[in-house]
Amino acid sequence: MATHDEPGRPGDSAVEMNELVLPTHTNALGTIFGGQIMAWIDICAAMAAMRHARVQCVTASMDALDFIAPVRLGELVNLKAMVNFVGRTSLEVGVRVEAEDLHSGERRHTASAYLTFVAIAADGTAIPVRGLAPSTPSERLRYEEAEARRQQRLALAHERARLRAAHADRSEPDA
Ligand SMILES: CC(C)(COP(=O)(O)OP(=O)(O)OC[C@H]1O[C@@H](n2cnc3c(N)ncnc32)[C@H](O)[C@@H]1OP(=O)(O)O)[C@@H](O)C(=O)NCCC(=O)NCCS
Repeated sequence: MATHDEPGRPGDSAVEMNELVLPTHTNALGTIFGGQIMAWIDICAAMAAMRHARVQCVTASMDALDFIAPVRLGELVNLKAMVNFVGRTSLEVGVRVEAEDLHSGERRHTASAYLTFVAIAADGTAIPVRGLAPSTPSERLRYEEAEARRQQRLALAHERARLRAAHADRSEPDA
């Protein structure tokens, strides 16, 4: 068995979760609240992140969350999560959500999301996480796509910091 220091395989972090859509999860139209799907996505992704890191991980951000189709009362929601990419202390997890009509068996892709988690120590500071070793063509593609998204996130964060600093310099002193 691999130790928790050696690079892990994306497939070993895979988590699958099923939920039944109950009346408390739905709005007046009988379809699920987006926030409920987000909560399940967060839980499923956190399990995949910690399965890889084997330490406590916290959600740093959720991006590219696309709601593709509504999910109805009484349907089964299936979530699949896997670590796509590992930085120094952060991990990107991809989640795919499908809904299944339990009577017909029809399945629909209803949402997808990418989340970044950060591995933390007991005092809440970020700590290094073991590497990731993609080995199949689809794992390598997901790794490279996740790396590109990370570059975009870092560039956006850099630009936001630059704009805030520029506005702080220009702001009027308090009366
Ligand atoms: C996430 C958290 C630990 C990051 O702390 P920090 O002091 O900003 O850490 P650093 O600047 O050293 O960055 C650590 C890593 O997080 C990444 N990161 C930080 N903020 C991020 C964000 N908003 N989105 C994506 N990645 C982020 C950095 O890129 C870095 O990645 P790397 O080590 O792989 O290069 C801190 O912001 C935090 O505790 N947030 C609250 C988390 C929380 O309560 N989540 C909800 C409940 S679980």
